[in-house]
Amino acid sequence: MKIRKAIFPVGGLGTRFLPVTKALPKEMLPIVDKPLIQYAVEEAADAGIEEFIFVTGRNKSAIEDHFDHSAELENSLNAKGNQGSLQLVQKMIKPPGSFVYIRQQEPAGLGHAVWCARNIVSDEPVAVLLADDLVLGKPALKEMCEAWKGGNMIATMKVNATQTSSYGIVTPGETKGNLVEVKNLVEKPKPEEAPSTIAIVGRYIIQPSVFDTLSKQRKGAGGEIQLTDALSEEIGKTPFFGFEFSGKRFDCGSKLGFLQANLALALERDDLRENIKTWLKETI
Ligand code: UTP
Repeated sequence: MKIRKAIFPVGGLGTRFLPVTKALPKEMLPIVDKPLIQYAVEEAADAGIEEFIFVTGRNKSAIEDHFDHSAELENSLNAKGNQGSLQLVQKMIKPPGSFVYIRQQEPAGLGHAVWCARNIVSDEPVAVLLADDLVLGKPALKEMCEAWKGGNMIATMKVNATQTSSYGIVTPGETKGNLVEVKNLVEKPKPEEAPSTIAIVGRYIIQPSVFDTLSKQRKGAGGEIQLTDALSEEIGKTPFFGFEFSGKRFDCGSKLGFLQANLALALERDDLRENIKTWLKETI
């Protein structure tokens, strides 16, 4: 079965990035010249997603505007004969009806945001992408979709043993290539208590049964409704795998990860590489 729909939860407050996130959605922060959310949408489109469901909140209208026509801008670029920029802004517009926006009325957690999309998704498996987890290199969701044979799937990466307390960590079962059976999920364990160093990253393929679990509205860590808690409840009922993707992930919800992603991408770009290298060498 093909995964056709993806949920983009963008209703969080982005408090780690204040003050910029007071009026600007965190997902609109640029990595070089493109906002985080556009990388996530492109990754989803690359994986064959046809319906893009955004769970937004207050102050997030910039996201809707970003994926719509800007008549004034397009007319002006056209009049000036700037076909390069015109194509750039036009090619990100998807066919009418491909983008759906839902408001999460309160930021009650990632699980709650995903649950808000239940009526749009209905009865089929769906992808979930967290735009602040940027993956550069091979597109992660495409790799996951190719490996997925049913059940629930989460993207995973190995972290240093000292970092487990910053991630959801997998208790691994049988491993086959990039796939690892998920026996349990532990939220932010101390290094000495961590069952492995396999961490969860913000890409998921979830079964519609997860919405039923989320509808119980049980609160977890931080008093929020957590997606990992709902996924944990599915263990043993439906196949559940972690997939170790090939790309490099940056936590762009943190200042350090955001800066690293900008530098990493700048160093990959032909138009910026030499200048940024020279500047970095001089500065360091
Ligand atoms: P985070 O915990 O990283 O995002 O949630 P946050 O709450 O916006 O950021 P901080 O911690 O306050 O700085 C991961 C993803 O889940 C979404 C966020 O927008 C982000 O993409 N999210 C989180 C929601 O959509 N709704 C929520 O209620 C919480």
